[in-house]
Formats: sequence, structure tokens, C-alpha cells
Amino acid sequence: MFSVLISLIVATWFSPEFQVEGAVGSDLNCTTYNGTAFVYSNTATICANVISDAACAVLYPADTTGAVAPGNDNGRPLTCYTTATATPAAIVQDMKTAAIADCPATCGYCCETSAYDCANVAYPRLDCSTITSAQCLSATWRTIIAEDCPSACGLCGSGGCVDAVVDCANDVTICTTVGMQDFVNEYCQYTCGRCASSTTSSSGSSSSCTSYAADSSSACADWAANGFCTNTFYTVAQRTAYCATTCKLC
Ligand SMILES: *[C@@H]1O[C@H](CO)[C@@H](O)[C@H](O)[C@H]1NC(C)=O
Ligand SMILES: *[C@@H]1O[C@H](CO)[C@@H](O)[C@H](O)[C@H]1NC(C)=O
Repeated sequence: MFSVLISLIVATWFSPEFQVEGAVGSDLNCTTYNGTAFVYSNTATICANVISDAACAVLYPADTTGAVAPGNDNGRPLTCYTTATATPAAIVQDMKTAAIADCPATCGYCCETSAYDCANVAYPRLDCSTITSAQCLSATWRTIIAEDCPSACGLCGSGGCVDAVVDCANDVTICTTVGMQDFVNEYCQYTCGRCASSTTSSSGSSSSCTSYAADSSSACADWAANGFCTNTFYTVAQRTAYCATTCKLC
């Protein structure tokens, strides 16, 4: 009997003519199947609403079952995805589009926003689905997550280049403060332009040219020996201005 029930559920799930209707409602975006029910995923409410939470609460009043939260299957507010006033309700894409743009957290649609809507790498070093919001803010985890699981922390579009700590941009003068270089090289790679990928792309472009401007400094050989050409403390513009030939920069 149990297996018949299971196969019925499976058949229903895979047959396109059936609309799966979870307790969350007709729209299953940002949910996962926990074994017995569709529940909101970790990234369903991880973002902030674009307009105020108070306005969202009026536009998208919570279902009688309660507010949307990861792990529960409370009904998604109907106005998030339909113009109907009762379930089962047909999905109206315009309603969804507006909800994703204005109130993604209230509607449990954070995973559909551009920061969270991208593919993770094929073989991530950690399980992307178990990443917590504390990990998203952790200096230890953030750069690894940006590279392997960008969708888990809203880091889509970062190209894997992020600040490990979130407040680097508060004072960008730290990028050029001499005593801060070890710090910014580790923690403020995005704000201060220290990502390996940006180094790679600049040296990649240099390999495409065949002649270089003359060095403007006679000390380039010594500087190069001390890492001038590779140390990201110096910008490509600075390296090109002083030692274009020695550093092989176009
Ligand atoms: C989100 O919901 C739409 C229906 O509105 C569906 O076509 C789409 O496949 C869903 N996307 C995901 C990732 O579940
Ligand atoms: C799945 O989620 C439902 C709704 O929140 C809950 O009642 C049920 O116990 C969960 N099942 C498992 C296996 O966690």
C-alpha cells in the first residue's frame, strides 16, 4: 500500500499534466522536498526586501498558516504569484515578477533574484545546500563560497571575486595604506582589486602583444626581483608606467 502511494506521488510529480500543489501553494520556486513535503529552501528568505518590510506585509499579507521561512511549508502569500483569491491558483507571471522585484523575502522568492539565481560549480568543495547565513558572512568561508557556491550567498555575478569581510568599501583608502596591504590582500580583494582572476586577466592580455614601452625606471630589474611585477599592491597602471618592458606589460 505504501509503495503504491509512493509511486502515485512520483507519477504525479513527473507527469506534466498534473500541477503539483504543495501546502506552500501552486508555485514551488525556492522550495525543496524534505521527504514528506515541499518546504522553503535555505535561500528562500535570505535576501532583504527591496521596498520596506511594512509595505511588503500589506502588499503580500501572510497566509493564515503563518509567514514564509526556510524549512516550513506555510502557504505562500497568494498575491506573490497569482491574482486568484484561493488555492489551487494559476500562476500569473506578472504577479511573480513584481513580487521578486519588490518583496522577495516576504514572498520566499530570494532564490529567484539575480544575486541568487545562478549555477554553482559542478564539483563544489562544500555542500552548497547546507551553507548557513553565518557562513555567508564569515571571512573564512566567503571567498570559497563565492567561487564554488555563489547562489548560496547571493554572490552570483561576482565572478568569484568578493571581499572576505563585508565592510571594506566603508573606507577605500585602506587599499593604498602601506600598513594595510597584508590585510586588504586577504580580506578586501574585491574592493581593492586584488583577486587572482583580475591578476590573471591582466597578465593574460599582456601576452597578446609583441612589443613593450621602454622602462621609465632604471631600477626595474631590482624591483622585479622583489616582486614588483607580480605584487598586486601595485596596480597594472603603475607597473606599466615604470617597468613595462621588464614586467612585459603592453
Ligand atoms: C519556478 O517556477 C516556474 C513557474 O512559475 C517554473 O517554470 C520554473 O521551472 C521554476 N523554477 C525553479 C528553479 O524551480
Ligand atoms: C517536512 O516538512 C513538513 C512541513 O514543515 C514537516 O511537517 C515534516 O515533519 C518534515 N519532514 C521531514 C522528514 O523533515
